[in-house]
Amino acid sequence: MAILITGGAGFIGSHTVVEFLNAGEDIVILDNFCNSKPCVVDRIRTITGKEVTLCRVDLLDREAVEEVFKTYDIESCIHFAGLKAVGESCMMPLRYYHNNITGTLILCEMLQKYGAKRIVFSSSATVYGKPETVPIREDFPLSTTNPYGETKLMIERILKDLHTSDPEFSVSILRYFNPIGAHESGLIGEDPKGIPNNLFPYITQVGEGKLPFLRVFGNDYATHDGTGVRDYIHVVDLARAHLKALERARKVTGVEYYNVGTGNGYSVLDMVHAYERVTGLEIPYQIVERRPGDIDECYADPALAEEMLGWKAEFDLDDMCRDAHRWQSQNPDGYPDEV
Ligand code: NAD
Ligand code: UFG
Repeated sequence: MAILITGGAGFIGSHTVVEFLNAGEDIVILDNFCNSKPCVVDRIRTITGKEVTLCRVDLLDREAVEEVFKTYDIESCIHFAGLKAVGESCMMPLRYYHNNITGTLILCEMLQKYGAKRIVFSSSATVYGKPETVPIREDFPLSTTNPYGETKLMIERILKDLHTSDPEFSVSILRYFNPIGAHESGLIGEDPKGIPNNLFPYITQVGEGKLPFLRVFGNDYATHDGTGVRDYIHVVDLARAHLKALERARKVTGVEYYNVGTGNGYSVLDMVHAYERVTGLEIPYQIVERRPGDIDECYADPALAEEMLGWKAEFDLDDMCRDAHRWQSQNPDGYPDEV
């Protein structure tokens, strides 16, 4: 019996595959490499010393997805595959809706048809919109402000309806806060295409000298230093939450929602200063206009995940900085291109 990990070559997926292989599970990765590279899979093999099956398949290709289910004895699925850039989703909403939603619909049909009725889904703190208070609990109101966020919320609803119609399903919805860092080996990490959209890969590239300075989007937010506050979580902690979520999904049916964050909020300038302190590098920055759509503060109340899953973040901000820096300095241009 194997676990299907869609998007398993991506940033969070690759770290999750490592944790599952280390736990002795059989893994089948399904990825079309639209935002990752096949060499990730070799690096996963190097880190773990274990074999992993790779299917280069687009989730939108129903026949190819079905072939995966016919070939391998899939018992559960961890579903990462999706497009994730907020700005791009506003420019190309149809591409985002089609890829993320149609892909999930095809996947769910196969999970049902082949009796693999367990799914852990990558949702996002973005489904909380602009929260009225922090820390954010799972029962807070849900809303979104962009097509990417809409796809996450719609998929949450689709999975809930699927369970209502077929109560044998176990659905675990993990709402991630801001994953950063990298595996301690420095072999796998985040490899954004082009100029990074997100704060931390931007900081690591400034540290490496690839970008001249960080633009800090606004210093007039209602936070301790005026810059935006987020809940940054080490990607290995996030990966381990999936092990715990699947462990529970194997025991109970139903639909459950969990925040996956640390519960700590750090500002943009906190992150800059932490990275400078840990690495000894200088991160020049300039304060610029706010980025449209950004909110003041977003951090989790992660108590439910601790209570129900026995999961809690273990790495601290220094670990995140150290590991992200190791990845960036060992792989200044990210993963090599396919030959
Ligand atoms: P990523 O882009 O690194 O990984 C996603 C993977 O899915 C990539 O390898 C890509 O090639 C693959 N993929 C996309 N569409 C596919 C398709 N149609 N068929 C097959 N493979 C496909 O992203 P990530 O940061 O690892 O994020 C993983 C998941 O977590 C995504 O669903 C994302 O929306 C969600 N998430 C990410 C963050 C974050 O800040 N990184 C925050 C909250 C939620
Ligand atoms: N920021 C800058 N300069 C930059 C990039 C970001 O100042 O160059 C600031 C932002 O204004 C924000 C903070 O850094 O205050 C974090 O921004 P990110 O883009 O790294 O992350 P977001 O919280 O905006 O969004 C991320 C993902 C979303 C996801 C959300 C919650 O990009 O997809 O976390 O999980 F929905």
